[in-house]
Amino acid sequence: MTISIIGTGFVGVVSAAVYASFGHTVYGVDIDENKVASLKNSVVPFYEPDLEQLLKTQQATGHLFFTTDYSQAIPQSDIIIIAVGTPSTQEGQVNLDYVFSACKSLAPHLKPDAIVVLKSTVPPGIAKDVESSIASLTQTPFSIASVPEFLKEGTAVHDTLHPDRVVIGTNSDKVFQTLAELHKPLQAPILRLSVESAQMAKYSSNAYLATRITFINEISDICEKNGADVEEVISAIGLDKRIGTHYWYPGLGYGGSCFPKDVKEIAAYSRSVNLHNNLFNTIDRINEERIPKIMNNLETTVGGFEGKTVAVLGLAFKPNTDDMREAPSLKVIPYLLEKGATVIGYDPKATETAKKVLPVHDRLQYALTIDEAIKQAHLIIALIEWQEITSYPFAQKKNEINTYFFDTRNQFDEQELKTRGFVYQGVGR
Ligand code: UGA
Repeated sequence: MTISIIGTGFVGVVSAAVYASFGHTVYGVDIDENKVASLKNSVVPFYEPDLEQLLKTQQATGHLFFTTDYSQAIPQSDIIIIAVGTPSTQEGQVNLDYVFSACKSLAPHLKPDAIVVLKSTVPPGIAKDVESSIASLTQTPFSIASVPEFLKEGTAVHDTLHPDRVVIGTNSDKVFQTLAELHKPLQAPILRLSVESAQMAKYSSNAYLATRITFINEISDICEKNGADVEEVISAIGLDKRIGTHYWYPGLGYGGSCFPKDVKEIAAYSRSVNLHNNLFNTIDRINEERIPKIMNNLETTVGGFEGKTVAVLGLAFKPNTDDMREAPSLKVIPYLLEKGATVIGYDPKATETAKKVLPVHDRLQYALTIDEAIKQAHLIIALIEWQEITSYPFAQKKNEINTYFFDTRNQFDEQELKTRGFVYQGVGR
């Protein structure tokens, strides 16, 4: 088959390389000339483990291409996958400009009976608008389907090669057969749903996971009031098979390019269909308020930030990525700067991104190593659980100034740190 993937973000590039690895001819299409130029040279413009190698291997086979030219890719394509970004508006509604602009660009070039697949996360009902937007620009017959994406950044290649399931939303037997055939090499359960159910499955999955994180964060707040340890609580409740021990890390709340946006969107979508007092409004509000609340408490505990040097370890929104969308550092660092602290930021991969997205400030510096970041620190905030950070031997460092150590992901040994003179604080304990 020949496949075009429109949008070369991490979903688009990973999917393109994986479909190419199944032997298909794949075109990655993007309007961003710089990105395409870089991908043509097998340089991935963001950090994602294993992706560059996969890209190189597939490009070497001669059937994976990147282009800005729709007329080169679409006329040959049996399947066109829309994987462009769907950012949120200020009001939390989904902004579908990129989706409709992709429709407009692809419509004049369609091959008869092509399948247009929506992989971008869009609210239920949008497939009909996408279909009519394309149909208004072409007489060529085509079908619409939805194949939502469930991969995680940082493990995108692994998740795409080993998905828990493949969801195909379509009302056509023929379209289902073609898309099921495409995904067969993944050896995952393949589900056939309606287009609307497929899109609801994507939103529901992210909304559930965000709710689960918010739930354990709320439980951890209660634990802090009564001397319980949230990690002990998790070990006990997790043995209930209905609950499980996975995906259960309390912390400063969820971030990234998906959960905050998708929870806001499902909340806004619910309101638009007259479900005003929905759970998702509340989840979003609790998550938005979490970092200011925790920073405020920390400020009181350490006797203010004015004049203190703070090492912030981990600037990306999670480990193994340089993506800083909705990263906790974006709230934590401005808070510290505003309260008079000097901040030394460190991240194994995201420092260059940080320099672009964090404010330039005479009290904000970036360190090249953890050693350098913590050297003068009165306070260490271990923000992201990069392996390099969690395996760093803090407890072997002699600490004479009683550095305060805030372990926002409960990754470090409290006793060890205490014996070396650190004052330790975790979350929910
Ligand atoms: C998330 C979903 O996990 C994917 O299934 C989905 O495909 C993706 O969004 C998407 O919609 O594209 P991602 O945002 O890459 O993936 O990362 P996660 O590992 O799920 O983490 C999201 C946020 O939740 C991070 O801020 C993370 O620190 C936080 N988190 C995660 C917790 O606070 N506690 C946990 O137990 C797990």
